[in-house]
Amino acid sequence: MTNKPDVSYEFPEAAWRQKLRTNILRWYRKHARDLPWRHQLHPYRSWISEIMLQQTQVATVIDYFNRFLERFPDVTTLANAPQQEVLRYWEGLGYYRRARQLHAAAQIIRDEHDGEFPTNFDAVLALPGVGRYTAGAILSISTNQRLPIVEANTNRLFARLLQHPDDVMGSDSQKRFWAFAERILPRKHISDFNQALMEVGALLCTPQKPHCTACPLKSICPTRDIGNWDEIPKPKKKTKYEQLHEIAIVLRDESSNAILIRQCAPGERWEGLWDFPRFEYQIQKPARPNQTEAKEISGQLKKLTRCKGSEFQWLTRIKHGVTKYRISLNCYQASVAGRRPKSSVSQKWVQPHELTEYPLSVTGRKIAKTIH
Ligand code: ADE
Repeated sequence: MTNKPDVSYEFPEAAWRQKLRTNILRWYRKHARDLPWRHQLHPYRSWISEIMLQQTQVATVIDYFNRFLERFPDVTTLANAPQQEVLRYWEGLGYYRRARQLHAAAQIIRDEHDGEFPTNFDAVLALPGVGRYTAGAILSISTNQRLPIVEANTNRLFARLLQHPDDVMGSDSQKRFWAFAERILPRKHISDFNQALMEVGALLCTPQKPHCTACPLKSICPTRDIGNWDEIPKPKKKTKYEQLHEIAIVLRDESSNAILIRQCAPGERWEGLWDFPRFEYQIQKPARPNQTEAKEISGQLKKLTRCKGSEFQWLTRIKHGVTKYRISLNCYQASVAGRRPKSSVSQKWVQPHELTEYPLSVTGRKIAKTIH
């Protein structure tokens, strides 16, 4: 991977760029938030925080980061932990592929880098789940390497500083922004500088009503004078949400009080996580399924788990959003009828209190909390 742009771009002159560096660094030293991954700069801590911060808000990440670091304080501890436990510590953060890749990357670092997080850009970039942004962020923040970064906050900030009219995620826009990020890098203090760019994007150069009067870049930013923050960056097309109707079954073996859970297979929405038997199905009146619907539910349960259910009882309805899906989940309780298949690797009978040991989806955990 080369960091050299393949086109040359016109950017504001040297004095403008110098002002940007000086003003943003001075502002950051006074206004940086006190975030746990900033307490001690180390590639391992930066890596965990950057992976968690992909697609997740800072406010949500803080507690997860602290808990994760307490349990997995270094690469080797993480690599040697069972994947299930890593997923349990990730539960609720969503996008669980990040956790599986983090775990796989920790094993690569243990086996190929003697358990020391690599500090070479190409070696970091080669790790699962790490792209150009993440590799640059980890190494610039934790070791001050002179590497540029472009992510969601900086996309918005750069678009406004450059009055960039196009979709920021377009490939030409991204080329321009990476070239710009490289041109504005100072010689020193890269860690503070890159974090300052993101901090201004997050706290001041917000999507709606940016706080231009408080911005350290107000004297060099054209958007402040033009006032077109609602046009730049170019507004995204609205996400089209898809409504899904699903059914989940708490299937109980009355003789032992055990409950059936299954592990989501590769390709399923919550791959690697555990869940109550669940399938897509819409019924008109969930609390009172008609005979055809009841037959359909019990047939689907049998197909998925090889278990026959009886005495279906309505539990609750949970509404939940995941990426572009709006899920309406109707939950039932049932008793296993006839022979109960044995536990296997991906399908287990567990006591209700044992559910705390298994990583579940958010809705799965909500259901688990209602079971005794
Ligand atoms: N968003 C992504 N990475 C971040 C970081 N290191 N600090 C604050 N916000 C971020």
